[in-house]
Amino acid sequence: MLPIYQPYLPKSCLRYAHEALDSTWISSQGIYIDKAKERLKEAVGSRYVILVNNGTCATHMLALGLKYKYPHLKKILVPNNVYVAAWNSFLYSGGFELKTVDARLDTWNMDQRLIKDYDHETALLVVHNLGNIFNVPALREQHPGLTIVEDACEGLFGSYNERSAGTASLMGSVSFFGNKTITSGEGGAVFTDDEELFEYLNSVRGQGQSSVRYVHDKLGYNYRMTNIQAALLYGQLEIMDEIREMKQNVFELYQKELSTVDEIRFQYQEPGTSHAQWMFAVRFDGFTFEKKRALELFLFENNIETRPMFYPINHHAHLRDVRGDMKVATQLNHQALILPSFPELTRGQVLSVCRKIKEFLSSNS
Ligand SMILES: Cc1ncc(COP(=O)(O)O)c(C=O)c1O
Repeated sequence: MLPIYQPYLPKSCLRYAHEALDSTWISSQGIYIDKAKERLKEAVGSRYVILVNNGTCATHMLALGLKYKYPHLKKILVPNNVYVAAWNSFLYSGGFELKTVDARLDTWNMDQRLIKDYDHETALLVVHNLGNIFNVPALREQHPGLTIVEDACEGLFGSYNERSAGTASLMGSVSFFGNKTITSGEGGAVFTDDEELFEYLNSVRGQGQSSVRYVHDKLGYNYRMTNIQAALLYGQLEIMDEIREMKQNVFELYQKELSTVDEIRFQYQEPGTSHAQWMFAVRFDGFTFEKKRALELFLFENNIETRPMFYPINHHAHLRDVRGDMKVATQLNHQALILPSFPELTRGQVLSVCRKIKEFLSSNS
């Protein structure tokens, strides 16, 4: 089976993880925590970076940071078609009501034209679906009074107006899960330029410890990244340009092969943005849910793993009471499919995925 993703882990990038194990510094102290943090800071240009143990914790820290900085906030505008961790993160510690914004059929991201009529108790969460970058600086210009945070778990290495995705709002979160462009197995990070938020979240991540050891001055969590994770991350950061180039080749080949297919639409990229090239996905214009399921099954029978686009928010039992327009999110879920997108995908494998899609379309038109 051709998997949807597999991490690129050449031996050279694993040596730091082996060193971390050999050193016996296997928990959350050790030299790689600082090394990986500094390297990541340099790569994305964020003033502060906090390493944590996964992208969900990183996104939860956005919610905690918002409540700390702006205690009056009660509502959060969220896209209605994203990975569930983005919504859950704002529900863990309570205090936020989710208000949804429907997607755009072309970008598959939140439709910025629908961001209106919010009050002073409302902040906004941007998510860069599959790596397609939402232009945060442009949104900030349109809505200077709105507090914005970014779940950039799928957007690392994408950019808007020459800045790294995740760095143009109050805080951004990223994930280093095994299917992300660079991975530490599990892992994540928070970006911010705000010193006060950095100090607060850095302490929250480590049980809320004060400047006096074992004296805790706030409710905290154990969200620390381990030295082993950080060593793996450091090795991945060392080869990030190579990984990105490999993925770019995969994306370009898919685009070349599929651009002439009538039914196929790619994610439209907003002006001033560059796609993070996390997952390559297409929308089949005019498809019903059943027809897309038939295509998924056909590809599966031909040993090709795919994934549907995320389900609209109220499809999940614990979120079924969330109200809002889900029309475009539903259409995207019915028509879009995520294709294998990992760095080592060969030319032959990409061509065979494209061939099978075309075969299905010609016998089911
Ligand atoms: C948009 C989004 N937010 C949050 C997460 C959570 O990241 P993690 O799986 O590292 O906890 C993911 C993971 O894929 C994601 O895609």
